[in-house]
Amino acid sequence: MSAPMAAQRPGDPFLVGRGLVKNYGAHRALAGVDISLRAGEVAAIVGPSGSGKTTLLHVLAGILRPDGGEVLLDGHRIDQLGEAKRSALRRHEFGFVFQQGMLVGELTAAENTALPLLLAGANRKQAMAGARDWLAKLGLGGMEDRLPGELSGGQAQRVAIARALAHRPKVIFADEPTGALDTRTGEETTRALFDAAAATNAAVVIVTHDRDLAAKAGRVVEIRDGLIAGGVMAA
Ligand SMILES: Nc1ncnc2c1ncn2[C@@H]1O[C@H](COP(=O)(O)OP(=O)(O)OP(=O)(O)O)[C@@H](O)[C@H]1O
Ligand SMILES: [Mg+2]
Repeated sequence: MSAPMAAQRPGDPFLVGRGLVKNYGAHRALAGVDISLRAGEVAAIVGPSGSGKTTLLHVLAGILRPDGGEVLLDGHRIDQLGEAKRSALRRHEFGFVFQQGMLVGELTAAENTALPLLLAGANRKQAMAGARDWLAKLGLGGMEDRLPGELSGGQAQRVAIARALAHRPKVIFADEPTGALDTRTGEETTRALFDAAAATNAAVVIVTHDRDLAAKAGRVVEIRDGLIAGGVMAA
């Protein structure tokens, strides 16, 4: 994204959702949610199953368009952009980590990690070098040439984190990234995600059922029935 960065002061919210409404047919999944993040901030979204957490994440990330309200990135509305522009925005400005890493089974750890760099226009040599650096930072040195099926669940999630961070996105969106891992591996994986995001000043929006994990975030946003409940707690 280009201007108006100059109008933004460091520390100003740069990802903002205002009055977000999303309906699935007659079901109102988001009923007017306000949320804002600063650069480098980590916000955990918690709440019961079906409360609208994934929907909120997808609306903020430009995967879904809201039926009401607006989403701004660096002061620009992104919710009104067409599919092609939102797709480009997701590729360039955002990184994604899902519950199951969604790695490409036929590609090695390094090739999976290099994908966003290639999509962002890097040549193969640069992309593979960047991918190997990120894998090393995430403690996966020596595993670059393994296929996803040759990695443990925690290792595969670290590859997914490396892939999400490799193109230095402004925001990482993570939807229950440790949901399929045991508690200890989940904690290590979360720590790896938060540390790597902090190293690049990326903001993180993480959806989780895990209260301990949420407590490690700078902010906890609780959603109930499509609305922010209980306010926003600063850590
Ligand atoms: N594509 C869809 N079509 C119809 N209803 C949907 C769709 N996606 C989600 N919903 C409904 O919208 C509500 C919010 O769903 P959402 O996936 O955002 O919840 P969630 O908080 O992420 O739940 P979970 O913790 O189980 O992942 C739920 O009632 C769900 O059934
Ligand atoms: Mg969900």
